[in-house]
Amino acid sequence: MKVFAHRGASGNYPENTQSAINAALDIEVDGIEVDLQSAKDAYVIIHDSWLDRTTNGRGKVSNYTMSQLKKFDAGSGERIPSLENLIDWNNNQTLLNIELKHTFELINLIEDIKNYLSNGKISQENLIISSYDHHQLKFIKQQLPWLKIGALTSSIPIEYAKFAQELNAFSIHIDKDFINQAFVSDAHQRGLKVYAYTLDKIEDIELMLALGVDGIFTNFPATTKSMLQNMTR
Ligand code: G3P
Ligand code: CA
Repeated sequence: MKVFAHRGASGNYPENTQSAINAALDIEVDGIEVDLQSAKDAYVIIHDSWLDRTTNGRGKVSNYTMSQLKKFDAGSGERIPSLENLIDWNNNQTLLNIELKHTFELINLIEDIKNYLSNGKISQENLIISSYDHHQLKFIKQQLPWLKIGALTSSIPIEYAKFAQELNAFSIHIDKDFINQAFVSDAHQRGLKVYAYTLDKIEDIELMLALGVDGIFTNFPATTKSMLQNMTR
């Protein structure tokens, strides 16, 4: 079962920052999940569309330029990373799951992705774009058919994983509180990976193992990795 560092190793470091990303890389996680927002002139790594919760800034991310955003403290003196920072820090070491939040003008994102690929900064295998906005996923997949997309859901639809198959998704990223065996089996039959978020407790990890999910998102990747090793020994 893959272990994704959720917002980096965000249980021990400020979420979606360089220290959280480096800590996840240091322990050789299978993947790192981060959140993407549109700023005025760049894509930036931050969960909320507002600066208030995770930084000392105020207002909406989309009202600022990258250089203005860099002045804010994102926790312990960290700066809000740009998408380019993330790609550089990762240096194609692990799988990046970039979750689209309030992102717009996706054509620019598509161009950025193409450039990162052609410059060898990341490989196709090491990138998943996920979102709750399935319209955006559909659009991106039309532009970049090779791209792995992850359909986010916090529900168990009547037709289970059919929506994700129709999107030609690689994976479904599902809330740990809305998952069951029928859903996991249906997704697997449709050739989809199932990744569950967000779980740190041993009981939840055991349950996901029993359900046969393919990966989990955790805020404490080091602890989760060692718990998993003990369980599967
Ligand atoms: O991508 C899985 C998970 O991160 C979705 O929820 O709110 O933590 O971004 P959230
Ligand atoms: Ca997320």
